[in-house]
Amino acid sequence: MHQVKGVVARGKGQPVEVVTINVPDPGPGEALVKVQACGVCHTDLHYREGGINDDFPFLLGHEAAGVVEAVGPDVTGVAPGDFVVLNWRAVCGECRACKRGELQYCFNTHNATQKMTLEDGTELSPALGIGAFAEKTLVAAGQCTKVDPSARPAAVGLLGCGVMAGIGAAINTGEITRGRSIAVIGCGGVGVASIAGAALAGASPIIAVDIDPKKLEAAKRMGATHTVDSSKVDAVEEIKRICAETYDGADGADVVVEAVGRPETWKQAFYARDLAGTVVLVGVPTPDMKVPDLPLIDVFGRGGALKSSWYGDCLPSRDFPMLVDLYQQGRLDLDAFVTEEIGIGDIEAAFERMHHGDVLRSVVIL
Ligand code: APR
Ligand code: ZN
Ligand code: ZN
Repeated sequence: MHQVKGVVARGKGQPVEVVTINVPDPGPGEALVKVQACGVCHTDLHYREGGINDDFPFLLGHEAAGVVEAVGPDVTGVAPGDFVVLNWRAVCGECRACKRGELQYCFNTHNATQKMTLEDGTELSPALGIGAFAEKTLVAAGQCTKVDPSARPAAVGLLGCGVMAGIGAAINTGEITRGRSIAVIGCGGVGVASIAGAALAGASPIIAVDIDPKKLEAAKRMGATHTVDSSKVDAVEEIKRICAETYDGADGADVVVEAVGRPETWKQAFYARDLAGTVVLVGVPTPDMKVPDLPLIDVFGRGGALKSSWYGDCLPSRDFPMLVDLYQQGRLDLDAFVTEEIGIGDIEAAFERMHHGDVLRSVVIL
């Protein structure tokens, strides 16, 4: 058993605390990871606010990179000393999706079996089955993906969640390629990552849409060729106009990524795509949201695909090493997502800055 510092949310809306936690030695199928860096994500704040579930206390943090310290007796995929990025979808290999070769859709992903606890033995619920605002964390071995050990932990750890979701929404779900246009609605961490992914794939034009001019500047730095301030102009018309400038006869973008998670922006995405185009919903709506007044004939008449993207439909074992290599080659600027490096005691302040839209990512260095 290991006693380390971790960041815990004890109750709904209460400020997080740095406390001592107990981390068990890894059992079968598990790995103990010494965390080096972990990004602060909206989902962590969401847990603290009771927006995910009521399984307090939570051990927060889930966008992390670190070094494997020990593994359970039967673990062969990773070994002590491996530099890994953590993922929250360890695939099972047994479910219907896995059996038909679509591991990225695994319907039965898993986490560590043993529980980390507070000093008094109270079981912790690790955020997204990870809990990496901690000096050490216990995960399922399949949640560890080995990547190039010379990469910067603060940057590559971000592939563990929002950045992967965004890149994957464009590349995996939207299947964006050269010779195709893309618009991304919502340019927070996820949307900007979609833009970076589209730039990697060679798409053009790459149109960034947001209501905040600061976000549009960040989008430009990540590879957006055009920006649209949808608080000032009609996003759908602007996207159509820009696409028609590049491709004769285009009536919208080939792929539109919705990275806000709201009905009105999804509807913009729906109407801003060209015939046979693809809409990708990567923003996460709340359960009460509905899309009203959508004529079914418009769904039929435009053809194409309306898709959702879970975690960028990523397969960590395929996508993490590939993206880390592109980062190392200077072709994917993961450093640009790291707005600041902070300490384990600075998370409340980071939530505050995130709330105001001042940062792409604050990253805790351990
Ligand atoms: N039109 C365009 N952009 C909008 C609108 C709107 N009506 N409303 C909000 N936005 C922009 C914000 O200005 C911000 O830049 O959407 C962006 C959302 O970014 P973040 O709040 O930083 O969220 P992010 O981490 O990028 O996640 C986006 O994906 O994973 C999900 O739960 C997450 O639903 C969220 C979405
Ligand atoms: Zn499976
Ligand atoms: Zn996250």
